[in-house]
Amino acid sequence: MSLVIKNGTLSGEKKDILIVDGKIKEIGSQLVSDNEIDASGLLILPGAVDCHVHLREPGHDYKEDFLSGSKAAAKGGVTSFLVMPNTDPPIDTVEHLSQERKLAAKSVVNYGLYMVGMDNVPEIQKAKNIAGVKIYLDVTTGNLNVEENLDALFSSFKRIAVHAEGKHVDESILRIKKTKNRLYLCHISTRDEIDFIRENKNKQIFCEVSPHHLFLTSEDEETLKGYGMMKPSLKTKEDQDSLWKGIADRTVDTIGTDHAPHAKKEKESNSPPWGVPGLETMMPLLLDAVNKGRLPLQRLVELVAENPCKIFDIPNKGKIKEGYDADIMLVDMGLEKKVKNSDMMTKCGWSPFDGKLLKGWPVMTIVNGHLVYDGTIHDMKGKEIEFR
Ligand code: NCD
Ligand code: ZN
Ligand code: ZN
Ligand code: ZN
Repeated sequence: MSLVIKNGTLSGEKKDILIVDGKIKEIGSQLVSDNEIDASGLLILPGAVDCHVHLREPGHDYKEDFLSGSKAAAKGGVTSFLVMPNTDPPIDTVEHLSQERKLAAKSVVNYGLYMVGMDNVPEIQKAKNIAGVKIYLDVTTGNLNVEENLDALFSSFKRIAVHAEGKHVDESILRIKKTKNRLYLCHISTRDEIDFIRENKNKQIFCEVSPHHLFLTSEDEETLKGYGMMKPSLKTKEDQDSLWKGIADRTVDTIGTDHAPHAKKEKESNSPPWGVPGLETMMPLLLDAVNKGRLPLQRLVELVAENPCKIFDIPNKGKIKEGYDADIMLVDMGLEKKVKNSDMMTKCGWSPFDGKLLKGWPVMTIVNGHLVYDGTIHDMKGKEIEFR
């Protein structure tokens, strides 16, 4: 199986990319194959690797499942995602993990699976090829937060991801420093947190921010109502500015969607659950920021592709490079269109960015050398990521 992407723009130059058996075989000019994609006028970027996605299967697959969520990913230029364990049942045992693996086989993009950390250290140690252990230090969807046994949990695996807010950020950083493991701080949202991370960062500590905190503030809560409720909540303009500053000075390592779909009926109820979808809007929001001069394109690629692969020990992804997996998005930087609830591929059928005009959209997505999205989804199977 071979495919050539013709005349795309890669790092400012016109290039062809020859793909053979799912890998980037050659980057050059006048490359040929029976199978051609015309990428004239399009940017060639590595597919995004989203380290923070909730897919609701098993337990709440009316909100999302591996097929619907992965189609949303492909449409959004996300070619791999790491899937959170706050399902029902949660992914807390090797048995639940292997059930989750079977469900995940439907995915049209590549995937990795987290386990949750609770009172289950022996189960974590039995597990094979997990993305990381997710520890919930604050209350959020799933009610999986833990207060005890934290030293044992932070020592249980080499990649620890946390939902930590406020003081829990400080405590997590101090705790991971007692181990040799990595700490991935999910969806950081305040200036105080960013400032503490900047001062205490070392080679073990990594910081994620999410698009809703970069592009919405607490002022949007008035109009969004339940649709603007998530954990951590939307913050002030000042907090938001500090996240952008953290992106510029490299305190922030990744942007992850925290794709957290909930049904419209639930979001319009008297006690809306926390979370917003993000897979289809992350890249358009960030590409629009590139177009507006707020974010250099190379920095964007680091945040959504290169750094996730480094932090999570994902080999052969995150770059357009000979020998690497052919996980690619083609972007039209001049395409201007509005985010529309009716265009959403996520089962939840809405976006907190509905109505927003954005310039710069992924228009084609290639996963393992196969065209998965080009305006419609072509049924394909992703693979489970093999962590190093
Ligand atoms: C997430 C969810 O719904 O699973 N919700 C959210 O508001 N972010 C859980 C989480 O990431 O905290
Ligand atoms: Zn969280
Ligand atoms: Zn989350
Ligand atoms: Zn097609």
